Amino acid sequence: MSKIRICNTAEIPSNGMKEYDTEGGLKVLIANAGDTYYAYQGLCPHQEVCLAEGYYDGAVLTCHQHLWQWDITTGKEVGTLAEVPLEKYEVQVEDGEIFVVQSSALKAAQLFMDVSDDTLQRLDLLARREKYGSGGVLYNIGDPTDDLYILESGRVEFLIGRDGTSPAGFVLRKGEVFGWAALLENQERRIAKATSLEDSVLLRLNGEATLKALESDPVSGYLVMRKLSTLITRHLGSQGEK
Ligand code: FES
Repeated sequence: MSKIRICNTAEIPSNGMKEYDTEGGLKVLIANAGDTYYAYQGLCPHQEVCLAEGYYDGAVLTCHQHLWQWDITTGKEVGTLAEVPLEKYEVQVEDGEIFVVQSSALKAAQLFMDVSDDTLQRLDLLARREKYGSGGVLYNIGDPTDDLYILESGRVEFLIGRDGTSPAGFVLRKGEVFGWAALLENQERRIAKATSLEDSVLLRLNGEATLKALESDPVSGYLVMRKLSTLITRHLGSQGEK
């Protein structure tokens, strides 16, 4: 859990919005509605578009690119176009300063959402937080599959093919897990290249240590493996291992 100062309340127009980049590489949109301030992911969950360039009427936020819309109080989709909600951050206002409180990406990870609090805490202790700049390579084709990753902020692209140049999608949402071959048997080498497309922050967990933590809590372990099999089926059906 981390608390980051974003700006002064006076910087945000009444019923308006503004975008900020934090030192940790997080793009945050701060919006005002009456007496309340809200914080959301700065980039549209559809494509790489700054939401601050969109439209906001004090209640509904609209991305100018393909007109996806969200309720500013909840981040939930409005209308029929938007396909996913916005990632919302907890806001604290103290003496006219706006802070964003970020929970660990582990808590947001779908793969670990059913894990008991004790095991989640254990995994949290195992996780190393790493920062990558634009173009930073997390792993290459042929590298060992020792670790899995959880995106905390930023964006990661995957390339496949012999020369590692064929696009295989990207991850953008906080809590997305990749490099999950680290949890599988007989998957010793990476078959995709993962590159940070912008300043990104990742949680990195050793696969063996994660499996050990899950073995000591079989109920959580079973639920994670069920989720993992769904994840693999979905990705293999479309793009291959991430
Ligand atoms: S890029 Fe925002 S709706 Fe498509």
